[in-house]
Amino acid sequence: MKTDKLQQAGNSSVETESKKTKTTVPGPGSKRTVGNIKAADPVMSATDVNVYYGDKQAIRNISLEIGKNEVVAMIGPSGCGKSTFLRCFNRMNDTIEICRVEGDIRLDNEDIYGKDMDVVLLRARVGMVFQKPNPFPKSIYENVAYGPRIHGLTANRTELDEVVQTSLEKAGLWEEVKDRLDQPGTGLSGGQQQRLCIARAIAVSPDVILMDEPCSALDPIATARIEDLIDELRKNYAIAIVTHSMQQAARVSQRTAYFHMGELIEVGATEQVFTNPRTKLTEDYITGRFG
Ligand SMILES: Nc1ncnc2c1ncn2[C@@H]1O[C@H](COP(=O)(O)OP(=O)(O)OP(=O)(O)O)[C@@H](O)[C@H]1O
Ligand SMILES: [Mg+2]
Repeated sequence: MKTDKLQQAGNSSVETESKKTKTTVPGPGSKRTVGNIKAADPVMSATDVNVYYGDKQAIRNISLEIGKNEVVAMIGPSGCGKSTFLRCFNRMNDTIEICRVEGDIRLDNEDIYGKDMDVVLLRARVGMVFQKPNPFPKSIYENVAYGPRIHGLTANRTELDEVVQTSLEKAGLWEEVKDRLDQPGTGLSGGQQQRLCIARAIAVSPDVILMDEPCSALDPIATARIEDLIDELRKNYAIAIVTHSMQQAARVSQRTAYFHMGELIEVGATEQVFTNPRTKLTEDYITGRFG
């Protein structure tokens, strides 16, 4: 990892701490990011990432780490690039033809855009949960068993049964579905489907889980269950979550990253970002003046 570069990025902005003149003045060619982009125990690191859709630049020179046992919340106005940036971490942008990603992104210090990287394996190690629950048109059991099976993670049916059960337990869904494992995953409620998708992601023992607005299609009770689950999952995984709910970011994350027009403006401990944002752009967004 280019540690010196990352360090530089965390300190590159000229800023004033004074409340009245809260502002950032980027130096020539420097990143605008204010705060510490580093994680205590980094699992993934993005350095100097730029993303383009055709000629249009969607992400500008962003560096950020995601660490073990932490939830990083990514917030910011619609269109600021949160989903685009999140998708860089498991190369989901590869599926968009006009999309081009530049920069250095590493998982356990391995370049995920390197020519030896097996993208299917990468997406098992860096799982993703989407806004709209998207179970396969298969049984509940098969939804969870699919990944371990194609990756050859289990030796026999007994082991596979165990992985399915443990994953559903970790996703907080086992008790609700244990008597109907052979029924279609699509027959579950929205909240249950989302927990099924989380079970599917964790069945292949990922290192990282990426979540793009995982609760935006759910009611408050289902949302609360997923939020509890995210807190539980943090014990075993590094998690990055995009959310439009500032309450949710405050409840589930330890660090928060504020994005604005393709740039990472500020990143820091969630409490600090919400109670004492260091840039005016962040302050305007969290106080509802912008976005
Ligand atoms: N497939 C695509 N093709 C072309 N442009 C795209 C594509 N996906 C995103 N963009 C553009 O890239 C920019 C960032 O979009 P992105 O979806 O990452 O934003 P976002 O922060 O996730 O927004 P939202 O909060 O609405 O989900 C926007 O200008 C968007 O129009
Ligand atoms: Mg998005």
